[in-house]
Amino acid sequence: MTDITNIEKIIKERRSVRTFDKKKIADEDIARIQDFISDAKNPYDIHVEFRLLDSKEHGLKSKVLKGEELFLGAKIKRIPHFEEAFGYSFEAVVLFAQSLGVGTVWIASTMNRDAFEKAMELGDDEIMPCISPLGYPAGKMSVVESLMRKTLGADKRMSLEEIAFEEDFGSPFKGSKDELLDKAVEMVRIAPSARNRQPWRMVISENKIHFFEKKDPGYDRTEAGDVQKIDIGIAMYHFANVMESGGRSVSLKIDDPGLKTAEGTVYVSTYEW
Ligand SMILES: Cc1cc2nc3c(=O)[nH]c(=O)nc-3n(C[C@H](O)[C@H](O)[C@H](O)COP(=O)(O)O)c2cc1C
Repeated sequence: MTDITNIEKIIKERRSVRTFDKKKIADEDIARIQDFISDAKNPYDIHVEFRLLDSKEHGLKSKVLKGEELFLGAKIKRIPHFEEAFGYSFEAVVLFAQSLGVGTVWIASTMNRDAFEKAMELGDDEIMPCISPLGYPAGKMSVVESLMRKTLGADKRMSLEEIAFEEDFGSPFKGSKDELLDKAVEMVRIAPSARNRQPWRMVISENKIHFFEKKDPGYDRTEAGDVQKIDIGIAMYHFANVMESGGRSVSLKIDDPGLKTAEGTVYVSTYEW
């Protein structure tokens, strides 16, 4: 995924897929996914172990899905920053699958978790934050899927002014003269998040962007860890990937700039270029 038009198209076309066609994924697509997951990196250098899991073989289920046969499982060591690292690497696989026409949906809660954790052979020091089905989207969504999308407002996102700010949290970001930066910020805005809560907040200065997590009560101690921090990892992947695809290298820093934030908003990371 090196070309900027392509990455934007893939991000814009992705949506959660919960109803699948019965058709098996083509062998060459499986091989490409296998290849990609063996090498999915993140800027925290924390290894994420991915496995492709057959639903029948392992008794894997999710009440929100229909027609799925294959799952993507993933686990990571419970060490500082595992959530951001996991979000980053898992979203890379999600977008890669999308580029092949393979549908996914991030799932942190609606699954028979015990069966998934067993299939992943989870160790005591490991966590399996999320999984996803992998398959070709069905022509028509199930009733459950349509209803879920409506309840979650899944086609809607917050406005740029609500999530991005200039220099400090005082003034809303209205776009810059830097076309690539504006594109990258927009690709964060439309990213997927748990229950579509969009917890990312960004403070942008000339050559830096700080990512913050706007915490909603009850999301930080789930079975998936701090699930909204996973969302920030997703946002970071969208941002870094768009910038790098547009030819600008970015580097990760985790030095809290000490900005005054609203209550419940915590600093996560910074990208510099
Ligand atoms: C970290 C994370 C966890 C999620 N967990 C679930 C889940 O357990 N069940 C589910 O049906 N959807 C889950 N979702 C999907 C979100 O509901 C979905 O991304 C959001 O509503 C936006 O819709 P879209 O992905 O179609 O753009 C999760 C998404 C993320 C990013």
